[in-house]
Order: sequence, then C-alpha cells, then structure tokens
Amino acid sequence: MGYGLLKGKKGIIFGALDNRSIAWKVAEKCAEEGAEIILTNAPVALRMGGIKELGEKLNAEIIPADVTVMEDIENLVSTAKSKFGGIDFVLHSVGMSPNVRKGRDYTNLNYEFYHKTLDISAMSLHRLLQTCYKLDALNEYASVIALTYIAAQRTYTGYGDMAEAKAMLESIARSFGHHYGKHKNVRVNTISQSPTVTTAGSGVEGFEDFISNADKLSPLGNATAEECANYCVSMFSDLTRKVTMQNLFHDGGYSSMGAAE
Ligand code: NAI
Repeated sequence: MGYGLLKGKKGIIFGALDNRSIAWKVAEKCAEEGAEIILTNAPVALRMGGIKELGEKLNAEIIPADVTVMEDIENLVSTAKSKFGGIDFVLHSVGMSPNVRKGRDYTNLNYEFYHKTLDISAMSLHRLLQTCYKLDALNEYASVIALTYIAAQRTYTGYGDMAEAKAMLESIARSFGHHYGKHKNVRVNTISQSPTVTTAGSGVEGFEDFISNADKLSPLGNATAEECANYCVSMFSDLTRKVTMQNLFHDGGYSSMGAAE
C-alpha cells in the first residue's frame, strides 16, 4: 500500500532491464504511488531483458530508445507528451562502459569506447533534457533524476572511465538544472547510490569488495535498490519542490565516513 504521493503524475523511466535493475524497482514504486509511466530501454535490451513482463504488470507502454540516438529520444519524448499532455518526472538510470565491459585497465583505454561510455552514460542526460526543453514536454515543477556513483568524486580501482562519465553526468544535472529551473521551475538532481547488485554493477571488477567494504563503513549499511526507489519517489513528489541542482548521497552515510573501528 502506497501513500498516493504520485497520484495523477506521469513519468518516463529509463533503464529497467531485469528485476534486479534499480529502474525496475523505481517503476514498481511509482506505480504503487499512483503514477502512470512509460518504460524505455535500448532496442537490444528489450529483446534480452524482462521489461515486457514489467510493462504488462504495471500496464505501462514500452517505447524503445537508444539514448545515443537523437531520433529515438525525440520520438520517445514527443510520444510521451502526446500521450500524457505533459511529463511530471523522468528517471535516467542508464550506464555502460565498453572499456569496463571488456576488462580494459584505466591505463589502457580504447578511445572509441571512451566516447561511447560518455555518450551513453552522461551526454544522454543532456540529450534527453535538451529534447524535453525544445519540445516543451516537462510540466512546471517536473522532477528529473539521474543515478550516479561516488566514483565521480573519489577513485575506485575497477570503475575505469565510468568515473568521468559520472562526474560529467552530475555536472550536466547542475548546469541544466540551472537553465530549466529558471525557464520552468523544473528540478534536476542526481542520486548517488550505494553499490547494488545489478547487471551494470556486477560488471565492475572487484564489485563484491566494493559492496562489502561500503556496507561495513556505512553506519546504516548499504542502501538497497528498493530503498533507492523510495528515495526517487520522494524526489518525484511535490514534497521536494525546492530541491534542485544537487548530488544527493543515498548511501547509509558512507560518503561522510573516514575510517571506522
Ligand atoms: P542495469 O544494468 O540494470 O541498468 C543499466 C541500464 O542501462 C540497462 O537497462 C541498460 O539496458 C541501459 N542501457 C545501456 N546502454 C543503453 C543505451 N545505449 N540506450 C538506452 N539504455 C541503455 O544496472 P543498474 O545498476 O540498475 O544501473 C542503473 C543506473 O544506476 C546506472 O546509471 C548505474 O551507473 C547507476 N548506479 C548503479 C550502482 C550499482 O552498484 N549497481 C551504484 C550507483 C549508481
């Protein structure tokens, strides 16, 4: 039973691949809180993952879109605008590094892959926001959230070029948050989530150590995907209307810790 926090709101959710995906949990929570949603993912992910099952369960339309393809994003945003009238929230839950996936060390990056990492994982947020801006697709006080990781601020062996992608993603959220805030009171924030067992997360070398070290250091322990979904709901709701241009740590206190016994 939800609280009806998103009653009457309409949103787009990127990045639900399978039932471990953070976006999957966010979609379920948003529906539980009364929102109507459109799900989207890359065409290849739609063929591989279980998103159809989620769409049926939540009665949500699925619109394929590769975040690196301008026409796909334009089609997605304009279809959502015609269906909904206006959009109240968007979750950007997209990340991929071909360098990390192929196990390339940070001192031996392939630069075409590097481009792809930045395009998929960071520039896509700009492409999405710019498209919404030009098509005037977001409603007043709409809320846009992108998921990020603390490797944007600190170095983690194995996170590779995704560290730069996350730093850029957070910067885009601040910069566009400024423009879209002035223009239409739209909020743009990033949520910096604890390491979480998902397909993207497990691709990072030494991921098990990331998880257990973070869990030990955080006074409240690691935040789960479900807890992240609850936080996203609060950020999409009207209870957080003046929160914008922030990188919000959702990590059980990990980011403020030094050493612990
Ligand atoms: P996931 O693998 O379930 O989600 C990543 C999604 O990105 C997938 O649905 C994938 O299909 C999509 N994607 C990749 N390339 C795409 C493209 N070209 N066009 C459209 N979609 C594309 O993994 P997870 O962990 O749920 O990741 C979601 C977000 O959370 C990512 O931004 C990730 O970096 C971030 N995050 C994850 C953490 C973790 O430990 N799992 C920790 C902090 C942040």
